[in-house]
Amino acid sequence: MYDFDQVQNREGTGCVKWDKQYSFGVKSGLLPFWIADTDFASVPEILDAIKERCNHPLIGYSDYEDDCLSAIQGWYKRRHGWEIPASYMLPGSGVVTSLRFSIQALTDVGDKVLVFSPVYDPFFAIINNTDRTLVDCPLDYIEGKYLMNWERLEEELKAGVKVIILCNPHNPIGRVWTYEELERLAKLCKQYHVYLLSDEIHGDITLYDNQYTTMGKFLEIYDKLIIYTAISKTFNMAGLISSCMMIPDEELKDKIEGALSDAWIFGPNALAFPAITAAYTHGDNWVDGQNAYLTENAETVMKFIDREMPAVKYVKPEGTFLMWLDFNCFHKSSDELTKLMAEKYGVALGNGAHYGKQCDGFMRLNIGTSRSVLLKGLEKLKELYQDLEG
Ligand SMILES: Cc1ncc(COP(=O)(O)O)c(C=O)c1O
Repeated sequence: MYDFDQVQNREGTGCVKWDKQYSFGVKSGLLPFWIADTDFASVPEILDAIKERCNHPLIGYSDYEDDCLSAIQGWYKRRHGWEIPASYMLPGSGVVTSLRFSIQALTDVGDKVLVFSPVYDPFFAIINNTDRTLVDCPLDYIEGKYLMNWERLEEELKAGVKVIILCNPHNPIGRVWTYEELERLAKLCKQYHVYLLSDEIHGDITLYDNQYTTMGKFLEIYDKLIIYTAISKTFNMAGLISSCMMIPDEELKDKIEGALSDAWIFGPNALAFPAITAAYTHGDNWVDGQNAYLTENAETVMKFIDREMPAVKYVKPEGTFLMWLDFNCFHKSSDELTKLMAEKYGVALGNGAHYGKQCDGFMRLNIGTSRSVLLKGLEKLKELYQDLEG
């Protein structure tokens, strides 16, 4: 019903992924598999809702109406089995911004904030740029799968961590944390009185038969947590700069609201509200279709690598539209690989070293594009492989 094969020409839209490739030393022209932005035309009803809002001649300061919150509630109940009381919800202007203000509200300078690398690099920036102390608890990589190192985690918590930032599903390695893993984490947070900030922006993007579990399922165990969601990744609406926080604890919610209003940061922009409402009302089939398409894309990449570039290793993704590739067979740093791929082969991939100290030689491949573009990119990587292996 929806055509994910359609190649979209995004030229002239100010599109960072295709037309603002300055971090690769050019303006445009590289086949892009870097920034976490997909190339699929979004849900028609969302686009219609935005257009309809523009039929009104005024777009002034705006706040959400109840229909927006009930659309989010409906989606979470229907798709993820969690009934969210409206009192928990706090629409925000982006997940990273919300995370940064959460850290500022809940910790003091020097406090320890723990992350599980390899992980989405703005987490490091938020901690470092607010003068908090970064505690990395690297994931173990065992037989092609990343797992929490529970022993190390508990040692770190014993030593006095104030906040954990979790990524579920986990960018860049594509893990969808299981119910059991998350339950264990919730119990540890309770035991050691640690705030848990759970970035669930990729929650709706699950591949194969993997099932995303929201931290909202464990409130009976522990409720000193914040869940961050958005339509940005699921529906490729990141340009609307919108998100939503779920904060069950009233005191915690007051603190976050206080930190945001101190900085004069209020909710999403006026066009985001109709978009959120439409996405969570009409988006089910589209999201299911996108997940099926992304699963096929992941299969395409894995088969291509097995056949054409067997020394390159990959992690089979469970969720997200990001694939984590290990190019250590070439004995080059991620910086070198990034430059070489861009300059000689015309492809832009995410620099793996940005996601953790142990990640040199890795690259992140964004598979959220039409299959024909993906295959063109894989052919370029094959050329690189043949040149370096041969
Ligand atoms: C895990 C994760 N969190 C947050 C974001 C960005 O969210 P926002 O644009 O709402 O700040 C991304 C984007 O790639 C992401 O992968």
